[in-house]
Amino acid sequence: MQLCIALDLPSAKENLHLAELLAKHNIWIKVGFRSYIRDGKEFLQNLKNINPEFKIFLDLKLYDIPNTMADAAEEITALGVDMFNIHASAGEKAMQTVMDRLSKLENRPLVLAVTALTSFNEQGFQSIYEKSIGQKAEQFAKMSFESGLDGVVCSAFESRAIKEVTNSTFLTLCPGIRPFGEDSGDQQRVGTLELAKKELVDFPVIGRPIYQDKNPKEKLEDILKLL
Ligand code: C5P
Repeated sequence: MQLCIALDLPSAKENLHLAELLAKHNIWIKVGFRSYIRDGKEFLQNLKNINPEFKIFLDLKLYDIPNTMADAAEEITALGVDMFNIHASAGEKAMQTVMDRLSKLENRPLVLAVTALTSFNEQGFQSIYEKSIGQKAEQFAKMSFESGLDGVVCSAFESRAIKEVTNSTFLTLCPGIRPFGEDSGDQQRVGTLELAKKELVDFPVIGRPIYQDKNPKEKLEDILKLL
């Protein structure tokens, strides 16, 4: 498992301070909407300046028409990040167009597809997708696998089943991880690191349990001991 830490703080200064506290560990750093919209590509460079070994996951969850998604995927690749994501519900054509376009480049980042957001409960999910989270997450995962993506974003509860219907090497990245039973916030499908390990999660994502802790550095070290 490779730990992915979300930097979702209200300013670049606070995020970079957090990254400095965590800098001696070669972890994945997740840069999401909040940070990227506000702080842009300079922020990515600042992170690399803190630790060139940080791996960067740009969590922008692209969802648009195929050509627009492929254009954006190419721009993201030019940023030099290590991983980014798109929505599986954008459809197979969109996912294939993205992967075709990236296959023409020398180096491409890992590409994951979002299946069911971890903030959905069954009722909220079914009111949109008309299927259970489990069924739809597996269907989205198969579509993503067949479209040539590297893996999916899902909850830890769907990780093992997704690998069974795709391939054991198909990556699962799972937000909603609460290592010591911390507050779930707006997340509905939360699980511990123990669950993540049992369910073969490749990338557990942890945000608030670290950045809202009084001592994020110590918290990260406690979490790393559980891996
Ligand atoms: O604070 P917390 O640990 O809940 O952070 C989870 C992070 O993962 C947030 O940045 C959120 O945007 C992101 N995320 C998610 N569910 C997804 C994809 C990304 O919670 N399906």
